Amino acid sequence: MEGYNEVSFDDWDEQNNERAERETDFSKIVGRRAFLGGSVALGASAFLLGTSALVPTKAQAAIMSNGNKFKAVAANSFDTITVPDGFRWQAVAQWGDPLFSNIPEFDHATRGTAASQALSYGDNNDGMDLFRVDGSNVMVVNNEYTNRGVMFGYNKSGLPETVEDVNKGKMAHGVTIMEIAQSNGKWGIVKDSRFNKRFTPDTPINVVGPAQGSALLKTADDPDGTTILGTYNNCGNGRTTWGTYLTCEENFNGYFSNSLGADASRTAEQKRYGVENKDWGYGWAKVDYRFDLSKTPNEPNRHGWVTEINPTTGEAKKLTALGRFKHENAEVVIASDNHVVVYMGDDERGDYLYKFVSADKYVEGGNNTELLHEGELFVAKFNEDGSGRWVNLKEAGMGADETLVFARIAADKIGATTMDRPEWVAANPIKAEAYVCLTNNKNRGKEGKDQPVNAVNQRKNNQYGQIARWEPVDGNHSTAEFKWDLFAVAGNPNVHSDENAGSKNINSNNMFNSPDGLKFDKFGNLWIQTDGNYSDKDGFSGMGNNQMLLGNTTTGEISRFLVGPKECEVTGLTWSEDYKTMFVGIQHPGEKGNSQFPGGTGTTPRSAIIAVMREDGGVIG
Ligand code: FEO
Ligand code: CA
Ligand code: CA
Ligand code: CA
Repeated sequence: MEGYNEVSFDDWDEQNNERAERETDFSKIVGRRAFLGGSVALGASAFLLGTSALVPTKAQAAIMSNGNKFKAVAANSFDTITVPDGFRWQAVAQWGDPLFSNIPEFDHATRGTAASQALSYGDNNDGMDLFRVDGSNVMVVNNEYTNRGVMFGYNKSGLPETVEDVNKGKMAHGVTIMEIAQSNGKWGIVKDSRFNKRFTPDTPINVVGPAQGSALLKTADDPDGTTILGTYNNCGNGRTTWGTYLTCEENFNGYFSNSLGADASRTAEQKRYGVENKDWGYGWAKVDYRFDLSKTPNEPNRHGWVTEINPTTGEAKKLTALGRFKHENAEVVIASDNHVVVYMGDDERGDYLYKFVSADKYVEGGNNTELLHEGELFVAKFNEDGSGRWVNLKEAGMGADETLVFARIAADKIGATTMDRPEWVAANPIKAEAYVCLTNNKNRGKEGKDQPVNAVNQRKNNQYGQIARWEPVDGNHSTAEFKWDLFAVAGNPNVHSDENAGSKNINSNNMFNSPDGLKFDKFGNLWIQTDGNYSDKDGFSGMGNNQMLLGNTTTGEISRFLVGPKECEVTGLTWSEDYKTMFVGIQHPGEKGNSQFPGGTGTTPRSAIIAVMREDGGVIG
């Protein structure tokens, strides 16, 4: 069926939007050195886990930070969830579940209507966090995008054919706030809760920070540049210390088109952000002129931000101080000097890793609600000797609002280190260090792509990905200087004996590809989620479906904890207050048409949040 994405969402972007090449002195120098000198490859393995404690593990028994053990699960290609012995799981919320009692239950044949989608749990859940508000459990969760072949599977074309179809798809995007509760041991949505709310691509959101009112954000409908309609393509997330949720707008570019045609001219900024004259098949410009570049050329500048949501009031604001790019997640840390630091990846092949440092300091018990309105934005330079530096984007010499709206261009000018698609960043709650998933990059080391191999992105045509980590030199996350190494280099030791076998902590029992979601629990366990090749063939044989693994950041041991259903990505993770339930996101099962998760035979596959619990009811962690 035509509507099924034959390639992943990211590959679709890559094929339709080759990353604009940049010309910087830095890239010319490094490019030549890497191409002439050959790959630095694992010659840089000195940087691989400075911890000498690391030993290859064949052990099947994994130990969590607080002493709980589990038997690691084997890779598989089942169309269900696999958890270790002694654990159980259940679906909590599935795409299309109504948030209100006057909205019909999900219809597997029609997939509902635009009106029902707008008041139901959205599609393709990604980042999420659970908040405790006045004794209620309030889940805030991103609904990143829709798979056309699933959403419009009732059309022979598998594509949106009517205005209603387009609007239905559009309303399934955004963010869901919903109360959940446990009844007879089973978690579910609390319909009609006062917290329940959907953000869609049409919800008005205030703009705060230095780019508020910028000419670059003004449109005919918003001449002040202060109110933007909608948040969409919300990928990973963050959680602030003051009880708010951060949702990260990622591939916002794929929804724009131009009624003047494919050959209409594009600005350098549109090219750098992948904004094209043709959209990715969603057809939004047909129902909403904001998505027609000829009519609303500044609309793309109004998306690609981090948006802060108050789960109690449902209020939201776009945080321009954190910069505009294809935001993956936003990991918040209170630095030892009490500045608020937010680490953020820009998920594109060869794009960058950023850090925001608040102007004001966090005050325990004080009013911290505007700390993300003002601050400095930095981009990472990783040196080959294991040192690194956060460089202030101001050094690019651009105007204050331009630096934020076109942060990628400022970072290009600075010569930031091109990365293998930075996905989630996670900061260790126990130690001043942070980790980032660099998911994969087929363009690494390819001539003409301006992404030469470097010490932190060591492999040409990187198919498997790696997890890098850094620590500020003085233990203070707001400091510019850091030291880095690689926590894990994914690979397949059954198939390869070269650098593609992966690092020492990868073995036949725990191998995976394309690390993406990444989160620490409060005990210091590092949870790794994957969004990779699930063919289980050739270089990926033995890896099975996408999965979630436990990483021990002290020993380097990695153990598989959960395997997702067919053609899914495992992304999004949070816990109940008592840590007896772990909520895990299952995104796009059956994205190529081959899953019936979680409903089983004859049902439409649906993205879902699942709850994982110990059979003995104990704490997970
Ligand atoms: Fe939405 Fe980069 O993953
Ligand atoms: Ca991701
Ligand atoms: Ca991904
Ligand atoms: Ca995905």
